[in-house]
Amino acid sequence: MFLSIAVDGPAGSGKSTVAKAVAKNLGITYLDTGAMYRMVTLDVLRNKVSIKDMEAIKTLLDKIKIEFRTEGLFLNNDDVTTEIRNDVVANHVSDVAAIGIVREKMVAMQREIAKGQSIIMDGRDIGTHVLKDASHKFYLVASVEERAKRRLLEFEAQGIDMTLEELMKDIERRDGIDSNREINPLKQAHDAILVDTTKMTIEEVINFIMSEVNHA
Ligand code: DC
Repeated sequence: MFLSIAVDGPAGSGKSTVAKAVAKNLGITYLDTGAMYRMVTLDVLRNKVSIKDMEAIKTLLDKIKIEFRTEGLFLNNDDVTTEIRNDVVANHVSDVAAIGIVREKMVAMQREIAKGQSIIMDGRDIGTHVLKDASHKFYLVASVEERAKRRLLEFEAQGIDMTLEELMKDIERRDGIDSNREINPLKQAHDAILVDTTKMTIEEVINFIMSEVNHA
C-alpha cells in the first residue's frame, strides 16, 4: 500500500518545511505544488503574456516543461530554483494559480507524479481535490502575525528589507485570492486534521504528523 499524505494551508503556515522533513523521515517523495504554480507564473512573466489572454496561456501550457531534478527546479531546461521565490513571481502567482486551464494542467501533472509511489504533497487543494483519497490529510494554519514574523525572519536572512506590516498585508492579500477563487480554493478538507502551528515549533509539528501517520 502506498502512503499518500496531503498537507494544505495558507502561505507561511509551515507546510513546505514540515512536508519536506516528513518526506525525509519516511523516505518518500515530496512534491511542492506551489513551486509548480510559481514556475508557470515565471513562464508567463518571461513571455510577457497577459493573464487575460487565454489563447497565449494555453500555448505556453502546451509546451511548458516542469522538472524536479536533484540539482534543482527546472523550467524549460533552465534552473529557476531561486528565481521562483522572488517578489515579482510572488506578486503574480495567486492570479496565475486562479486560472482554470493552469490548474487543470498542474493537477493532471501532480496526479501523474503521485501514481505508483508513496508521496507527500503540500499545497492548497491537495486534500480537497488533487489527492481526495489521500490516506492522511493535514490542514496547517497559523495567525497572520505569526506567519508574517516567520517570513520576516526568512527575508532578513536573505538581506531583503520588508516590515512586519507590509508582510502582514501581503499575506492577507494572498490568503484572500487563494481562499476566494472559484476553482478549488484554499479550504480545509472535511476529513483533514487541523493543526494550528501558531504556538508550535517546526519540530513539534513534524512530530505530530509523524505520530499520526505511524499510528493510523
Ligand atoms: O505554497 P506557495 O506559496 O509556494 O504557493 C504559491 C501560490 O500557488 C499561492 O498563491 C497558492 C497557489 N497554490 C495553489 O493555488 N494550489 C496549490 N496546490 C499550491 C499553490
